[in-house]
Amino acid sequence: MLPDPCTYIIFGATGNLARLKLLPGFYNLEIDNKLPPECSILAVGRRAWDQSRWINEVRSILEQKTKTALDETVFERFCQRLFYHQGDMDNPECYQQLTERLSNNPQFSKNIAFYLAISPENFGPVIESLSHVDLFNQAYGWRRVVIEKPFGYDLESAQVLQKRIHRYLDESQIFRIDHYLGKGMVQNVLVFRFANVMFEPLWNRNYIDHIQITHAEELGIGTRGDYYDSAGAMRDMVQSHLLQLLTLVTMEPPVSMDAESLRDEKVKVLKSIRPIPKSAVHAHAFRGQYSKGTIKGETVNGYLDEADIAADSSTETYAALKLFIDNWRWRGVPFYLHTGKRMAASQSSISICFRHPPLQLFHGTGVSCMTPNWILMGIQPDESIRLEMTIKEAGLEMRTRTTSLDASFRLPNQRAVDAYEDLLLDVMKGDHSLFLRFDEVEYAWRIIDPILQHWATERDYIATYPAGSWGPSESRRLFEKEGQFWRTSLLPECEI
Ligand code: BG6
Repeated sequence: MLPDPCTYIIFGATGNLARLKLLPGFYNLEIDNKLPPECSILAVGRRAWDQSRWINEVRSILEQKTKTALDETVFERFCQRLFYHQGDMDNPECYQQLTERLSNNPQFSKNIAFYLAISPENFGPVIESLSHVDLFNQAYGWRRVVIEKPFGYDLESAQVLQKRIHRYLDESQIFRIDHYLGKGMVQNVLVFRFANVMFEPLWNRNYIDHIQITHAEELGIGTRGDYYDSAGAMRDMVQSHLLQLLTLVTMEPPVSMDAESLRDEKVKVLKSIRPIPKSAVHAHAFRGQYSKGTIKGETVNGYLDEADIAADSSTETYAALKLFIDNWRWRGVPFYLHTGKRMAASQSSISICFRHPPLQLFHGTGVSCMTPNWILMGIQPDESIRLEMTIKEAGLEMRTRTTSLDASFRLPNQRAVDAYEDLLLDVMKGDHSLFLRFDEVEYAWRIIDPILQHWATERDYIATYPAGSWGPSESRRLFEKEGQFWRTSLLPECEI
């Protein structure tokens, strides 16, 4: 489906997200000829820049990102789409001038997507201001709003925000981003599950021992101290990205792949997650904070020494969670989710551990220990699916080893497509499949809220882990059984 003509208006166009993801995303779409000719990108910023200053700025953003010289023909074409609007989003004049600039100007399509790449506290006010100048009026073209995460700070604030924006926008106009859904490998989870018949009979409590979802980053919090210290890993990663991954691995097949059917099934999973009462928080959740350590041979600061962090902060940079899904397919199967900053490696993965086979079959042979089968889905940086199995070694003796079948997602010479590229196009197409419906956000907060509330009462102690490690070892206490452990490698042990 070709995207509609569209004017993208970016609030926060000089901020981090626009620099690192949005502008490079648009540029890559330009390279691949995926943008319709009538697509323009209007950046709203406070600085008094003119058109040529903005073009220079975009050039430098793209050069920094690609670390190479730009293809001048493509860049020239891209520049035809770029516009800059100087204005302060706190000032009503900004919106008045914006309306004047857009009205009856053939440079700008009447279909408009407003991208709010701004702090969450500004979502409500900016939407209100846009509505006051009638920019959501769909008489001559569609009007859509893209809202970055976090959508709310907890259940209550998410509901308040939803109520506020619902006065001006209906659900079909709202695109709540969870950029994980735009990742190729995340979409591949659904293809793997629903386009291959052989795993479906095994995809349940009868054959699966447990499932792990890992997101580990070598990076620390960088310059985002202000935001991060009030959020923490549970809000920043688990409530959104990790719970979304969980729904995709565990949902029932939807009746079709349209947005509503897909999201209906994801919501059913979230609704079936067993609530964690405050009294059980310690049994189900664990948090930690990085201390000074070493990453790639370099000494790095502990969290408390990072910029904009209070000296006595107990915000978690590592969070682990054990969940159960109380439905027919998954009852009794533990799901372990964990995420951390300043970990030993950057890696996101989903690891599915099958039950142990019956050992007695091989009694009296050289086979002393049989490892269970695993399906390992590398989300990033390694985009792969590996199926680990036990095979007999060649030779007369009955000896076994673990090997893995590899269904890599991307060939080494294929360009890695950034999640935002897909999502930017979907907004233009009006496709909500990879965006969150409000009930998804709501149920995700319901799961996380009791944990956050309990942690908020325990501010005097937080476990630490050295930067460059795999997180606090005490998080192992979440495991249900002997023999369960955090699976950190996507390769069989004998191949590491
Ligand atoms: C963002 C979080 O949503 O996702 C960041 O706010 C995190 O803290 C990032 O680093 C991870 O995204 P990715 O695509 O780099 O895994």
